[in-house]
Amino acid sequence: MYNEEAIQKTRDYMITTLSIDSSGHDHFHVDRVWRMAKKLAHEVGANTMVVELTALLHDISDYKLNGGDEKAGPEAAKLWIESIGIDKQIANNVADIIEKMSFKGAKVVEENMSIEGQVVQDADRLDAIGAIGIARAFAFGGAFGQRLHDPDIIPVLHENFEAYKKKKDGTTINHFFEKLLLLKDRMNTAPAKRIAEQRHKFMEMYLNNFMQECKGSI
Ligand code: ADP
Ligand code: NI
Repeated sequence: MYNEEAIQKTRDYMITTLSIDSSGHDHFHVDRVWRMAKKLAHEVGANTMVVELTALLHDISDYKLNGGDEKAGPEAAKLWIESIGIDKQIANNVADIIEKMSFKGAKVVEENMSIEGQVVQDADRLDAIGAIGIARAFAFGGAFGQRLHDPDIIPVLHENFEAYKKKKDGTTINHFFEKLLLLKDRMNTAPAKRIAEQRHKFMEMYLNNFMQECKGSI
């Protein structure tokens, strides 16, 4: 059953929790993912309560920002949902999606997910590509002391999650080749695939100009 008050409470909670982030995981990211997920859920007929709670809570404790703990996010989301009196079953569904939805490497097969999980994963990934995706990638790179670009460092298509997590000497431009340009073909739902096409083209144009400017040819 849809519970508007619980959604508002959760949104307020996430605004407070993520307000100081400067790595591209701030509450504006969460709001964009929430709005996109609502739209996709409506179009494909997914359960909106599960979709909205997951979208709002998906970055509550990201392993990339919390020192590498992948269980902390799903666990914190579950505790929050139970603390506001929502059904345990919904809390479990949300935690299960958060545990599975992250990108784990170019050569890693995606986990099977419920339609609600597919919707939130698509919404999160749409926010990682296009104009906003480009901005977020460089914000992340800056927050983690990563260089913009080094032509001597070749992108790596990671075989497993361990290798993806432990990568060193990464550059933000390489992140496009290691993840962001791969997302278009990994969208789950038809409406997300359509949006991803446009955003992907924009990233390609951007990278093309970036490389030409590096060479001094434009
Ligand atoms: P996911 O759970 O799939 O990792 P997030 O919502 O946590 O998705 O956001 C991931 C975003 O963080 C990326 O799309 C990118 O913008 C940024 N990011 C992650 N790793 C890097 C990196 N090594 N270099 C630049 N940006 C990165
Ligand atoms: Ni996210």
